[in-house]
Amino acid sequence: MAEAAASPGMTPVITARDVVKTYRRGSTAVEALKGLSFDVPRQRMTLLKGRSGSGKTTMLNLMAGLDRPTSGSIRFEGRDVGAMSDAELTRLRRREIGLVFQTFALLPTYSAYENVDLALRIAGLGARQRDRRVREVLSLVGLAKRMHHRPFELSGGEQQRVSIARALAPHPSLIFADEPTGELDSTTGLGIVRLFRRLMEEESVTVCITTHDAAVMAFADVTYEIVDGRIVGEVQRTDG
Ligand SMILES: Nc1ncnc2c1ncn2[C@@H]1O[C@H](COP(=O)(O)OP(=O)(O)O)[C@@H](O)[C@H]1O
Ligand SMILES: [Mg+2]
Repeated sequence: MAEAAASPGMTPVITARDVVKTYRRGSTAVEALKGLSFDVPRQRMTLLKGRSGSGKTTMLNLMAGLDRPTSGSIRFEGRDVGAMSDAELTRLRRREIGLVFQTFALLPTYSAYENVDLALRIAGLGARQRDRRVREVLSLVGLAKRMHHRPFELSGGEQQRVSIARALAPHPSLIFADEPTGELDSTTGLGIVRLFRRLMEEESVTVCITTHDAAVMAFADVTYEIVDGRIVGEVQRTDG
């Protein structure tokens, strides 16, 4: 199954093998992931599709180094994410991966420009480089004319574009987006998925998205269907 997902001649960005995650609350245990194995192919769009509670966010959090698996391994560019030190994980999240959330997670008193700029400050870029990159990514997502607006002055779709620009700004090799269309109407949501596809090509970034929306599958190169903490199916995009 994992072999079929690989793009020819390129190693996958992520290889997940037998990933188990058990949450413990007092004497009860919830086995959220029951042994997931899959690859995230480079410069492609991978979809984790499943109903609420199937384990999508748990898997994304493990791949992003926000939490550690109970057993199994997740390799990012060959390095075991579960075995990284906190300092390595911090570096991973600041520079090598970008995160996009369902609820946008923008700072409400900051403009679009300032929200993106902050990510580049944290990544350690100097002022001149930051200014150039902030303008570049906000143009890429179609918000050049709105860059000084604050989140409440923007539509939901525009706010999600700001958060995508913020994730993209430090040149990560991989962007994770957890239900990025979940708060948007279907037309706006598909516009966001189309934007991810365009950025994937223009910025050579790998994209990994979770969704419960079957319509998003039409845009993905590979879809893994998750039911109750297991992968039950894999769909490859068939057109070139
Ligand atoms: N921090 C947690 N503590 C205990 N159980 C959790 C926690 N996070 C998620 N779960 C449980 O793990 C399962 C998968 O949740 P989640 O990964 O959020 O699914 P999805 O994102 O697909 O909706 C669910 O049964 C959920 O209740
Ligand atoms: Mg979720």
